[in-house]
Amino acid sequence: MEHFNNIFDSHAHYDDKWFDDDRADVLLSLPQKGVCGVVNNAVNLQTAKTAIEYAEKYDYFYATVGFHPENLSDITPDYLDEMEKLLQHKKVVAIGEIGLDYHWDIPRDLQKREFERQLAFSKDMDMPVVVHDREAHGDTMELLRKYRPKGLVHCFSGSRELMKEVMRLDMYISLGGVVTFKNARQSVEVAAEVPLDRLLLETDAPYMAPVPFRGKRCDSSMIIYCAEKIASLRGITTQQLLDITRENDLRMYDITQ
Ligand code: NI
Repeated sequence: MEHFNNIFDSHAHYDDKWFDDDRADVLLSLPQKGVCGVVNNAVNLQTAKTAIEYAEKYDYFYATVGFHPENLSDITPDYLDEMEKLLQHKKVVAIGEIGLDYHWDIPRDLQKREFERQLAFSKDMDMPVVVHDREAHGDTMELLRKYRPKGLVHCFSGSRELMKEVMRLDMYISLGGVVTFKNARQSVEVAAEVPLDRLLLETDAPYMAPVPFRGKRCDSSMIIYCAEKIASLRGITTQQLLDITRENDLRMYDITQ
C-alpha cells in the first residue's frame, strides 16, 4: 500500500487487552502511518478514564464517555454525575458508545431506559453521541427520532433506507471493515450512496479488521483498506476520501487540529 495521510478513526478501543503487550508501540507508530485522529470509545467509566489517560499522552487521541449496553451491570445510581465530571476534560469529544444490542440476552427494558437517559444527558450537555445499534434498528431509530441528538451511528449495519432515515435526523454514519468483506452487499450499497459529507470511517479496533487482515488484530492504519474500497465505489481517490472523512470527523466531534 502506498502512503496516505489524514487517516481519522472515528471509533476504536485501544484499552482492549489485545493491545496489552505492545500498546505504547502501536500508539506511537500510528502517526508515522498517516493517522491524524483516533476517537477511543468507552464502554463504562473505567474505560473512559483509561482513554483520557491515553489522550493526555498522545496528541491525536480523543476519548468518549458512556455506558455500552453490554456494560449496564456496572452502572451506579449517580453514574451521570460521574460522566459529567469526565466530560469537562477537553479531549472528551462525545458520549459513547451507547445504544441497544439485541444480539445478546440483556434485558431490553433496562437497555432502552439507560439509552434514553444517556440520550437526554447528551442534549443537556450539548455533546454528540456515538450510537451502537446491533439487531435493534427499530427501537434505536425510535429513540433517535424522539431525542434528535447530534452524532453518529457507528459500524452502521442497516439498509440504505435506514441510512436515509439517519440522514433525515442530521446524523452521520460510520463504516468499518465490514465494507471490505465478500458478503457485505448491504454495506456496499450504503457506502455507494451515503452523502459524502455524512460519512465517517472507523476500525472498531482491535476487532473487525478489513480484508486482507480479517480475523487479525486491527489498528487504525488499516482504515486505508476501507477507504480504498469506498473511494472506488464513489469514483474518487483513496486520499480524497480520507481528506473528506477527516473533515467530517472534525466537524462532528467539534475538534480543532
Ligand atoms: Ni465499539
